[in-house]
Amino acid sequence: MCGIVGYVGPRPAAPILVDGLRRLEYRGYDSAGLAVHSPSGIEIRRAVGKLRNLEGLLFERPLEGTVGIGHTRWATHGRPSEVNAHPHVSGDIAVVHNGIIENHVALRRELKADGFEIQSETDTELVAHLVQREVRRGKDLLGAVLETIARLQGAYAIAVLDHARPDRIVVARASSPLVVGLGEGENFCASDVPALLPYTREMIFLEDGDVAVLEADRVQLFDVRGETIERPRRHIDWSPAMAEKAGYKHFMLKEIFEQPRAIEDTLRGRLDRTSGDIFDQEIGLDEERAKAIRRVVFLACGTSHHATIAGRYWTEELAGIPAVTELASEFRGRNPIVGEGDLVVAVSQSGETIDTLVAAREAKKKGATVLAVVNVIDSAIARMADAVFYTHAGPEIGVASTKCFTAQLANLLMLSIWLGRRRGHLSAERCRELVEALASLPQQMQETLQGTRQLVANLAKRTKDARDVLFLGRGLSFPIALEGALKLKEISYVHAEGYAAGEMKHGPIALIDEHVPVFVLVPEDDQYERSFSNLQEAKARDARVIAVATSGDEAALDQSDDLLEVPRTLPQLTPFVTVLPLQLFAYYVADFKGTDVDQPRNLAKTVTVE
Ligand code: F6R
Repeated sequence: MCGIVGYVGPRPAAPILVDGLRRLEYRGYDSAGLAVHSPSGIEIRRAVGKLRNLEGLLFERPLEGTVGIGHTRWATHGRPSEVNAHPHVSGDIAVVHNGIIENHVALRRELKADGFEIQSETDTELVAHLVQREVRRGKDLLGAVLETIARLQGAYAIAVLDHARPDRIVVARASSPLVVGLGEGENFCASDVPALLPYTREMIFLEDGDVAVLEADRVQLFDVRGETIERPRRHIDWSPAMAEKAGYKHFMLKEIFEQPRAIEDTLRGRLDRTSGDIFDQEIGLDEERAKAIRRVVFLACGTSHHATIAGRYWTEELAGIPAVTELASEFRGRNPIVGEGDLVVAVSQSGETIDTLVAAREAKKKGATVLAVVNVIDSAIARMADAVFYTHAGPEIGVASTKCFTAQLANLLMLSIWLGRRRGHLSAERCRELVEALASLPQQMQETLQGTRQLVANLAKRTKDARDVLFLGRGLSFPIALEGALKLKEISYVHAEGYAAGEMKHGPIALIDEHVPVFVLVPEDDQYERSFSNLQEAKARDARVIAVATSGDEAALDQSDDLLEVPRTLPQLTPFVTVLPLQLFAYYVADFKGTDVDQPRNLAKTVTVE
């Protein structure tokens, strides 16, 4: 996630901006830059990599002004490079931006036709040109920003400088966070509270559609029509460590609760709700390729592997293509049969996992087309693949993956729908239904998190001393059972097994007694009846049964010891909501046990070594 900082006041701006960016480092970034007003114009410094590279540049070529903006970039449009780093400039205008502009293709075309030379691959540069065009047409800076945001679709928090108005910064937001810090004779803005804590604790949290003009001695707020508005001033007493986690105790919990937003960002610009389809442009494949695929082979490790099991089921059902899922570590080096006609989908949060990278490379060498589904732009797997379909979950800091898992599910479902439609397997009507259900997911995930949090915390307190925990699920709930068990194992060190519910009779049923909590996933789907029998079998053996069921399921309420309800959605979409209480359960058990939730023992966030 990008970080924005802005300063207007009497002090040298650059050190305050760099310090603010450093306090936003936890958000993750791949490049950084500053723009500061100087007497001769707006001066820019940008560098790829860590902030120390930017500081080195500032040491050699200092920036003198007292008004400026800074940015750490987490690439979304265009790889990490100096030319793609922010701030972006157009004439006298400099802009930093956090978010994703959905209509960037149309805007780029329009600006090019209007004679603008576009230097970078970013959507942000387009914002700078739009503001500049309005200034040229006679608007003042505020007016130009208002006209510009009226043209933007998607998510943005922007901060804009104009050489003609060296006394101010104009900021605006929609769906991306932006906070204004109120000082004495100086004012600030930032993507997040920690950047501002050393300077002020008096803050205004901007809301969607808000625009603000920051000068040293005043801050004015406007709505999208340019009418003056007011927002409450808040006193923030969080410690810096709490602020980084937005008040949550651990990054993992913060990331669990970030999932509605991560899914919204991942779906952004991909769902064509007008025609009820998935847009072509972001999938990375063309229609001809989609039609030529004979088999889909999913490759991944760990949690990403669990996402691919759902991916496989969706590909078979919605796209009508034979599909297999392979653990990348088992696939590589065994000389598997793969080649032309195979679409290999390599799924990885980091894009750097060595087994997934090597396995995908081997498949590519044998003639398969490799599509990467990764979260980190320009990572090794993204670079080696023939095409990339990025998840936009933002950086994940907790070692145990949560929001990247559901973002991977979103991409794999969109891919299956897109393939099914292009190959004529999925009717337009079905496709529209799925697209609409996907669009409702962020809200349903929010409801699930709010509705189950306290229940799960209570349950975790009661069951934290269990030695073994079982998770059972069928069909699309099978990978969720595996994921529930993996989360619990890795952060709480409790032994857990995830099992295909139908396999229970073939062994694990022997483990069940009154000491073993058994989670049974029984959302309303095509497998409901049979999954419910498994729930009853567990109950009959005195297990403590925790049902994860669709809200209003009386039978589940009747037969289980604890019921965790999830909202009704299409059967294909149940994994997005059923996984949430399981993530929360693992979190709370670990927290009650006092383990190192964000950095569990023996685990690394990215496994790049053999
Ligand atoms: C578990 C977890 C790991 C990763 C695995 C693959 O919570 O995070 O199992 O999923 O190491 O990592 P990526 O997705 O980066 O390839």
